[in-house]
Amino acid sequence: MAGKEKKTIFFCQNCGYESAKWQGQCPGCRQWNTFVEETVSARTAKSAGKSRPRAAGAEGGRVVRLSEVKTAQESRILTGYPELDRVLGGGIVDGSLVLVGGDPGIGKSTLLLQMCKELASAGRKVLYISGEESLQQIRMRADRIGRQADLSLLCETNLELVENAIEREKPELVVIDSIQTMYSEDVSSAPGSVSQVREATGAFLAIAKGMGIPVFLVGHVTKEGVVAGPRVLEHMVDTVLYFEGDSHGTYRVLRAVKNRFGSTNELGVFEMAENGLAEVKNPSDYMLNGRQPGASGSVVACTMEGTRPMLLEVQALVCKTNFGLPRRTASGTDVNRVNLLMAVLEKRLGLPLSNCDAYVNIAGGLRISEPALDLAIVLAVLSSYLDVPVSDRTIAFGEVGLSGEVRSVSQTQQRIQEGVKLGFTNCILPRVCEEQTGHVNGMGLTGISSVRQLYGLLKK
Ligand code: TYD
Ligand code: MG
Repeated sequence: MAGKEKKTIFFCQNCGYESAKWQGQCPGCRQWNTFVEETVSARTAKSAGKSRPRAAGAEGGRVVRLSEVKTAQESRILTGYPELDRVLGGGIVDGSLVLVGGDPGIGKSTLLLQMCKELASAGRKVLYISGEESLQQIRMRADRIGRQADLSLLCETNLELVENAIEREKPELVVIDSIQTMYSEDVSSAPGSVSQVREATGAFLAIAKGMGIPVFLVGHVTKEGVVAGPRVLEHMVDTVLYFEGDSHGTYRVLRAVKNRFGSTNELGVFEMAENGLAEVKNPSDYMLNGRQPGASGSVVACTMEGTRPMLLEVQALVCKTNFGLPRRTASGTDVNRVNLLMAVLEKRLGLPLSNCDAYVNIAGGLRISEPALDLAIVLAVLSSYLDVPVSDRTIAFGEVGLSGEVRSVSQTQQRIQEGVKLGFTNCILPRVCEEQTGHVNGMGLTGISSVRQLYGLLKK
C-alpha cells in the first residue's frame, strides 16, 4: 500500500472536532482543554472503504424507484423489559446499531447483561463482549441479578479478534461493553481516542448492517475528556439511548435522544435494587412518593414524556433576600425559565419578587424542559411567596407567556386521565384546554387564562 504516511491531528474528545493545531477551547462544543493529539495514518480511499457497510439490497451505483423497493416485514425482538422496548421504539430492530451512553457506574452494564440473560433464556444466541471486566466479574454480576440463563461471553479488547469471534459465532445479538476499550491495530492512537472509537464503531456498523445482527455499544460519558465521549459517534449509530439518574437516588431513567426506528421522547424508568434493575411500571406513583401534604410551595405538575404522562412534584421556596442580588437556583429544570416566569409575575402582578431569593426543585431528580411545566412552577412560586398551600389533590399544567397569559398545551386528555388514575380531584389548566375537554368524571377542571386569575385562586 503506497501513501501510508503518518500525520497528526488534534481531536476534541468531547465532540470529535478536528483541528490541525492545538486549541484551548473547542470551536465546536465550546468545552475547554478537550483537544488531544492523535496520529492518523493517511489511508487510501480503498482501504478506508473496507469498513464501509453497504445497506441491504443496495447494488453498486444503480438508481431505483421508491415504489420498486420491497419492504420486508419489520421484525422486532422483544427484550423482556417493556420499559426498554418502549424506548427502543417497540423492541430491537434487526441489524440496528444502538449506543447506550451514561456516566460510569450508572448501570449500563447491568441493564445490558439483564437484557442478554432475558434473551438468552428465551432461546436466543447472545454474545456479550466485555473489554472492562473479567469473566469472574461478569459471572458475579450475573449471579447477583439472578435468573439462570446461559449466554456466550468474551473478554477482549482487540477489535480484529472481536470481529473474528462475531463472524465465527454468528450470534443473534451482540453487546460491546464498552466501545472506548476496543482498539484496532490499524490505528496508531491510544485506545479510547476519537480515531480508535470511530474505527471500532465503523467496524460494528459493518457487522450490524452486513450480517443483520443488532449490536449494542456501551459508551461512557466522561467529564475529563480523557476518552472520547459517546457524542463523537451519535451520528454513526441508528439509536442513541442515555441512561441517567441521580447518583444518590435509586431510580434510573433511560431516554432516547436519537432513534431511526421510533420516537425520541420516550422514557423508561428503572430502579436499581440489590439484585439488579427493576422496572418502575407506574412512574407517577414513584415520583410523588414522600410528598408532604399541606406544605406551601408544593404543586403536582403533569408533563408528557413521549406518549406517557407523568406526574411530578414541583417545589418552590421563595424568601426575602439578604443581599442586594437575589439568589435563584433550579434543579431539574432550566433556571433561566424560572427567572423569566418570576419576571412575568413581578411585572403582571406587581409582586416585589426581585427582592426575593427563589429555589425551584423538581422532586425526584428528573430533568424536565417541557413548557407545560410553567403553570406548576408559577403556582409553586406564588404558593410559597404567599405561604398558602395548594390543595394536595390538585394537579396543574399549562404554558405561561410573557404577557402573563396561560397558553394551551397538547394531550390534555391523557394528562387529566393520569391525574384521575392517581386519585387527584382538581386540575388547573389553560382555559382553552378546559373548553376543548368538557366534562371529566372524577376531576374538577379549573380553566384559567392568565396568571392574575391564578393569583386570585390562591388569594381566595
Ligand atoms: P454498572 O452496571 O457496573 O454501571 P456502568 O456499567 O454504567 O458503569 O453499575 C454499577 C452500579 O450498580 C454499582 O454502583 C453497583 C450498583 N448495583 C446495584 O446496586 N445492584 C445490583 O444488583 C448491581 C448488579 C449493581
Ligand atoms: Mg460497565
